[in-house]
Amino acid sequence: MGRAGFILDSLIAAKEARPMIVVMPAGHSSRSGANPIGRPATEDFVDDFVKDVKPYIESHYRVLKGRANTAIAGLSMGGGQTLNVAIPHLDQTEGLMKRTISIGVLTVALASAGVAAVQATKTALAASQAAAPAAKTSAAAKTAGGAQAKIEALVAQMTLDEKISMLHGTNDPNSYGQAGYNPGVPHLGIPPLRLADGPAGLRTAQPATALPAPIAMASTFSPALAKQYGQIIGRDARARHQNVVLAPMVNIIRVPQAGRNFETLGEDPLLASRLVAAEIEGIQREGTIATVKHYAFNNQENQRRSVSAEVDEQTGRETELPAFEAAVRAGVGSVMAAYNKVNGAWAAESVPLLTDILRKEWGFKGFVMSDWSATHSGAPALTAGMEMEMPNGRYYGKLAEAVKSGELKESVVNEAVRRILSAMEAAGLLKDGDATRAVAEIPATSPGARDIVVAGAVLLKNERNVLPLGKDDLASLAVIGPTAKVLVVGGGGSANVRPMHNGNPLEILQQRAGAGAKIAYAKGYDVDGEPVPSDVLRPEGRPDARGLLRKGAAGAADSVDAAINFVGPNALPAGSSVTWTGTIIARQTGDYVLKLQTAGGRGNLSAGTQGARQGGPGQRGAAGAPGTRGGTAPGTALPEGMAPGAIAEATAIPGFGAAALLPTADGLTNTSTPTRLEAGVAVPLTITVTSRSTTPVQVRLTWVTPDTEKARIDEAAAAARAAKTAVVFAYDEGTEGRDRASLSMPGPQDALIAAVAAANPRTVVVLNNGAPITMPWADKVAGILQMWYPGQEGADATAAILLGEASPGGRLPVTFPRRAEDAPTAPAERYPGVNGKGAYSEGIFIGYRWYDKQNIEPLFPFGHGLSYTTFSYSALTVRPAGDGFDVSFTVKNTGTRPGVDVPQVYVGPAPNASAPMAVKKLVGFDRVTLAAGQAKPVTIHVDARSLSYWSVTAHKWTVAPGPRAFMVGASSRSITLKADVVVGEIR
Ligand code: BGC
Repeated sequence: MGRAGFILDSLIAAKEARPMIVVMPAGHSSRSGANPIGRPATEDFVDDFVKDVKPYIESHYRVLKGRANTAIAGLSMGGGQTLNVAIPHLDQTEGLMKRTISIGVLTVALASAGVAAVQATKTALAASQAAAPAAKTSAAAKTAGGAQAKIEALVAQMTLDEKISMLHGTNDPNSYGQAGYNPGVPHLGIPPLRLADGPAGLRTAQPATALPAPIAMASTFSPALAKQYGQIIGRDARARHQNVVLAPMVNIIRVPQAGRNFETLGEDPLLASRLVAAEIEGIQREGTIATVKHYAFNNQENQRRSVSAEVDEQTGRETELPAFEAAVRAGVGSVMAAYNKVNGAWAAESVPLLTDILRKEWGFKGFVMSDWSATHSGAPALTAGMEMEMPNGRYYGKLAEAVKSGELKESVVNEAVRRILSAMEAAGLLKDGDATRAVAEIPATSPGARDIVVAGAVLLKNERNVLPLGKDDLASLAVIGPTAKVLVVGGGGSANVRPMHNGNPLEILQQRAGAGAKIAYAKGYDVDGEPVPSDVLRPEGRPDARGLLRKGAAGAADSVDAAINFVGPNALPAGSSVTWTGTIIARQTGDYVLKLQTAGGRGNLSAGTQGARQGGPGQRGAAGAPGTRGGTAPGTALPEGMAPGAIAEATAIPGFGAAALLPTADGLTNTSTPTRLEAGVAVPLTITVTSRSTTPVQVRLTWVTPDTEKARIDEAAAAARAAKTAVVFAYDEGTEGRDRASLSMPGPQDALIAAVAAANPRTVVVLNNGAPITMPWADKVAGILQMWYPGQEGADATAAILLGEASPGGRLPVTFPRRAEDAPTAPAERYPGVNGKGAYSEGIFIGYRWYDKQNIEPLFPFGHGLSYTTFSYSALTVRPAGDGFDVSFTVKNTGTRPGVDVPQVYVGPAPNASAPMAVKKLVGFDRVTLAAGQAKPVTIHVDARSLSYWSVTAHKWTVAPGPRAFMVGASSRSITLKADVVVGEIR
C-alpha cells in the first residue's frame, strides 16, 4: 500500500488478548534488532505515511509537521478489528511530550502473523487530539493512542524473563550511588531506570542541591514554590543520570516525635494535597518520574516494618489519603508502597489500597514500587498491584516460576510491565533514553532554594521587635551554639543530601553585619567533646598501664595506645581495621557522653551497657553526607531494642542507626552514647574501626564530662550577659529509621537556652529542627525563629533574615504542642502501638483538629507565623460559585515594611452532621506579598470536596449541608473574620 512501501510487522503473541502491529519504514524490521518503536522518523516518511493513509483519515488528521522529533509510535490492534494509529509529538521547545496526537481508528485485515502487508479496508472512523501541558496530562491521556501502541509492541517483543527483570531491582553495574536500579531491556530501547532519593534534594554519591527540608517548603503555603522545589530536584536528577526520583513523601504528620516529620508536608490534608500536586508537576516537567511515598499510613518510624495501622474508613479518607489522591490526579508516575501493615495487611500487598482505591477509584495508571525490602510475597503482591520489588528480586525474581507453574497469569505480568512502560513513556524515557537526555549542570549555589528557605522560615515569636537585629544589637552581639558554626543542612536517612556547598551562619553574619559590629561567640554545647585523657583509660590485662590495648593483626603483637586520637597526619593507614579494649574509670560520678568520631572507616563503641555504632547492618550503598547513619544521637535515649545491662550495640534499627547529623568541626562522623559513670568504677570499653575506603582511617574517642558541660553553659551565659542581644542556635536530629525519644532537643540545649535567657532578656533562638519540639524556655526569650533544616543555602538565608535583608514568610504546617502529653497520639495504644497495632482511634482529629476539639492550647498553633510587618483582614463576603463558594476579603499590610501574608480560610462543622467533623478545617489559603500600607482583595475558592465528609455508608464524599461558619484568620487559632453561610446540597 502506497509509495513508502510500509511494512507492518505484526507481532501477535498467541497468548495476548490484544494483538498488536508495529509500523515502520520499509527496510526496517524489528527482527533485525533495530527497534522501530518510537524511533525518530524522517519527515519524508511521515509525509508518505500521511499521504497513504490520508484517504482514510483526512477529515480528522492534524499532525504537527516540520518538527524534528516527530515519530511514528506504532499501530496497535484494539479489541476486534480496529487498528489505532498514533503519532506522539515531541516538542522540545514547549516541554517534553507536550502533545500526543492520536490519529484515527482504522479497520484492518491482517494477512498473517508474520511480516505482512496490511490493507486498510475502511475509512478511519475517528480521530482524537490530546494537547495539554505535559505535567497536567494524566498518565492515562499520555498512554492513549500511540504511546499505548508502542508499549504493546514492546511487551509483545519481550521474553518472560525480560518482563520479569523489569519488575524488580538489581545492582547497578555503573552506579552513581543512588538507591535503586532496574536494568530495562536495552536491546528493545528500554533504558535502565535509576532511582534516587529523595524528598529534600537528589541523593547520589555526588553533591546536588540540598533543599530546605520538605517541612520548610510546606511552611511556604505556596504551590508555586512547591513546583519550583520539584523542578530543582527533577533538574538535578537529569544532571546525575537519574530518571526516577523517590519523592515526594506525603505521609501526614500524626505523631509529633516521628523521625521523618521533616521529610513530609505537614499535618493538614488540604495543604499537603496542594503542595504535593505542584511538586510533582515540577519534578515531572523535567522528564523524571516522581514517586509519591509511602502509601500509606507510614506515620511513625519505630516499628515501621511491622506495625499495623488500624484505621477506619472515614479517618483514612479524611487524613492520610487525600494527598496521595492529589498526587495521582497530578499524574504522578509512581507510588511507593509503605513498610507497615494497614488493618492487618502489608501495605505492599493490600488489595483495598492498591487495587480498589488507587487503581479502581483514583484511576492510577503508573506503577507501584515497594519501599526498600518492604515486599513480602511474589504473586499475591503483584496481583494486588505492586509492580516493582525494590531494591532486589527476593520475591519477584522468582515470578517466572510462578508463571510457569500456573500460579500467576502472564497477563498480570504483562499489565505490570505495561504500567512501568507507561510511566517511562510519559516521562519521555522511551523516546530518548538516558543517553540523549539534555544534561543540565547543577549550579554551585541555588537562588531558587534560598528563596524557599526564606519563604518557609517561621517567625514564631518577636517580642519588642527584637528581630531584625539593629545596629545596636550588632555592636554588642553574642552568638551561641554549635550550629551557628556548623550548618544543619538536612535531616538524616535517605533524605540526607550531599550539598553543593554549605556555609557557616556565624561567618556570614560577621561578614555582613557591617562596620562597627562586634560579635562574640560561645559554643554553649560541645558537640565534638574533648579527647578522653589516657589517665582514665586502662588497657585490657594491664592495670598499671594507661590507655587502651590495640589488638595486633594476625601474628603481630598487641600494643597500648595512650589515647585514641588518630586524625589528620596521625591517621591510621588506609585499609586498617583495629580493635581496642580496656576500661574507662571516671574520677567523678555523673552523666557523660562518649563520642566515637571517624572518617574513612566505620566505628563501633561499646561502653558497659551501651554502645554507639556507625551504620547499621542494612546500610545501603547510597552515599550520604558523613554522619547520617549509625550510633546514638547525643542526649537521646538509646534506640528501640537496646537492652540495658549488657554490652550492646545500637543495632536495633537496620539501615539507619543514628550518627549525629552534625559532623565534627573537622568533618568526622560523630556518634555519641550517653553513659553514666560512677567514680572509680571500671567500665569495659571496646572500640573497633573498620576501613571502608581507600583513604587513611581517622578515629578519635572524645567525651563530654559533667564539668565541661556546665562550663560551656556558664561561658555562654557570661557572653550573653556581656552583650546587648544574644542569639542562640539550637537544633534537633530527625532521622529516618527511628522516632525521637522525646520532644526535647538533644543534650543540654534547653538548659543552655534557659541560662542564656536568664542572663539576657533580649535572647533570640534560631531553631534548626524538622518537627515540633517542646520549648520550656519559650516565655523567657524575646524571639524564636524557626529555620527548619534549611539546606545548603541555610547559612546565607538565616543571616539575611536576622539582619532584616529578608523577611521570614512561613507559617507552621504542623501544631507545636506545649507538652508531649497533649498530642493526639500520646496514649500508647495510638503510638507506638500495642501488640504490633497502632490504633488510629483519634479518628479525623489529628493535628490542630485535635487541639481544637480537646480545647488544648498549643505552644504554637497550625498556620501561625509572624512577619516583620503586620496585617489586617476586612470586608468578608462568601458567595456561591462553581461547585462551592468564593470567599473574598481584603488583606492590608498595616506596618512599615513589605511582607508576605498567608491568609487562611477554615470552615466549621454542619449541625447534626451524621459523621464526626472538625471544629475548624482548612479549606483554602493564599500567599500575598504586600508593600507597606498596601491592601489587596483576595478571593479563595472553597470547593465541594472541602465542604464534605467521607460517608461510610455511601462510601463517597458527601457535602454536609446546613449553616456552616466560614472563618478567615492568620492561623487556626487567630480567626478575625467570620460569616455563617447556609451550605446546600452541592453535587
Ligand atoms: C525509605 C524510602 C527510600 C528508600 C530508598 C527506604 O528505607 O523508607 O523513603 O526512598 O529507602 O532509599
